[in-house]
Amino acid sequence: MATSSPSEKDQVTNAVASGVQAIQAASSSEDLKNVLSSLVGKKGELASIKATLGKVSDIEIRKQLGQLVNDALGQIQHAADARSRELLAGEFAQQIEAERVDLSELALSESVSRRRGRMHLVTQSTERLEDVFIGLGFQIAEGPEVETDFYNFEALNVPPSHPARSMWDTLFVESDVEGSVVLRTHTSPVQIRVMQEWPPPIYAVMPGRVFRKETPDATHMPVFHQIEGLVIDKGITFADLAGTIESFTKAFFGPGFTSRLRPSYFPFTEPSAEFDIRRPDGSWIELGGCGMVHPHVLRAGGLDPNEWSGFAFGFGIDRMAKERHGVADLRDMYSDDIRFTEQFS
Ligand code: PHE
Repeated sequence: MATSSPSEKDQVTNAVASGVQAIQAASSSEDLKNVLSSLVGKKGELASIKATLGKVSDIEIRKQLGQLVNDALGQIQHAADARSRELLAGEFAQQIEAERVDLSELALSESVSRRRGRMHLVTQSTERLEDVFIGLGFQIAEGPEVETDFYNFEALNVPPSHPARSMWDTLFVESDVEGSVVLRTHTSPVQIRVMQEWPPPIYAVMPGRVFRKETPDATHMPVFHQIEGLVIDKGITFADLAGTIESFTKAFFGPGFTSRLRPSYFPFTEPSAEFDIRRPDGSWIELGGCGMVHPHVLRAGGLDPNEWSGFAFGFGIDRMAKERHGVADLRDMYSDDIRFTEQFS
């Protein structure tokens, strides 16, 4: 039986041996890739042996040699796969080591741990207020900051040229119809939007940013925050309003605090009142306005005043946070100075 010549066999065996050696010597995946392609590629030794197969006239020998070369290629591929796994594991470990962040050092360094973020005082107060009102059975609603004159004034029973408009120094937004678009001067327009969208009964609070043409000073900012409250149900009376304000006061400020109402005027409530909070030391904080929702306002909200009644209230969140935390100047709250924010965690 014909056999392939020993020299060709040796050639293949040697090629495999030196190939495996080169593979094991590869120092990186990249290197290995190059070594492998030179071994099994078209210009490799095995390829040139394979190329000569066509010239071998003896079918048996050709078969044997072909088999030999294929086995050799398999062995080389096998060795390369094994080396590749080794190299990749090492490279991965190296990458992890290189990208490692030493958290133990971070935790130990006091200056770094102090850099942890905190919520702004107004955000903290808003979230606490929402929690308290949710606890009292209210839902949260929001409305747009850029409002139409209709929602900000007219629907709230403040027609154009009504003298009460001077209660709010309004910032206007340029629009096709001059004066028809404003930056909302209070959160009360959200009352109307909620009445129009939610079927009664309604128990809602609406926090948000409001805007007035004010020069900033220790107690005024042109941008500040309010929270509006709206209750619409059957047979709601002024006593419900007073009781809700009192429950809120105790729940938010603490059992040592009480509230009082003083007669006042707002176009959208009748009767209207201002409410104050009494601290345990006997001093008072003026908080906001409130009253029974005016029938015109109920109608603007799509409700029949003969069927539904309700109350509304609104007060400043920034002012309240200022009082609560003894902040002397409102402007500090918007200074963007981390040393200020850091004091209130
Ligand atoms: N919107 C009023 C203000 O900004 C406050 C208020 C709200 C008064 C609801 C009565 C009822 O001054």
